[in-house]
Amino acid sequence: MNCQFFFVILWRNVRARTETLYEYMEDFRTLCQHRRSIRRYANRPVEREKIDYLLQCALMSPSGKRLNPWEFVVVTDEAVLRQLSGCKTYGSQMFDTAMAGIVIAVDSSLTDTWQCDGAIAAEHILLAAEEQGLGACWCHVFGRDESEQMVRELTSIPENYAVLCVISLGYKNEERKNYDLEKLLYNKIHTEKW
Ligand SMILES: Cc1cc2nc3c(=O)[nH]c(=O)nc-3n(C[C@H](O)[C@H](O)[C@H](O)COP(=O)(O)O)c2cc1C
Repeated sequence: MNCQFFFVILWRNVRARTETLYEYMEDFRTLCQHRRSIRRYANRPVEREKIDYLLQCALMSPSGKRLNPWEFVVVTDEAVLRQLSGCKTYGSQMFDTAMAGIVIAVDSSLTDTWQCDGAIAAEHILLAAEEQGLGACWCHVFGRDESEQMVRELTSIPENYAVLCVISLGYKNEERKNYDLEKLLYNKIHTEKW
């Protein structure tokens, strides 16, 4: 193979790969449009590097007074994931097929903004998952006493931490429509006064 030909092929590959990423990087709105809750996953493991990437994004989320009241428990054990599926009567079935999960536990005694802090970290994970080509869904646990206790026991979370939610993760095995910019709830927006 001559040198020039090799570089053309290499350049095309690099461009093809960065274009997909660039689409999101350049335009955050497009990433938001694509992110949907995914509840069915392919039987394909999620690379640990990708999970670590999501966690880095979570660790950069803003928190009230920068108190960082959250902790994250990564779950990849299939038996535990399937048990998580039963943590609620409705709304936890994404763990029938999830290939990983991230439990978000928050120290509620540290700050009165703990729920917001945990939710922002969760949203960073959801958006980063979409950017990494993964599907994800928020499974709410906090306030559902039995669910919270079950997740706490399965993942050994100390009693002084509230269990906010578990994010299910995996490669997508369902199609969801992107958000349509034409159909957003613009009537929710008020300018200057309600
Ligand atoms: C605070 C919160 C709690 C949620 N809890 C659940 C849940 O327990 N189970 C579930 O299947 N989806 C849950 N979801 C996902 C929502 O149902 C979903 O975000 C909403 O229907 C909008 O759809 P989209 O994420 O595809 O845009 C939750 C989302 C949020 C933000």
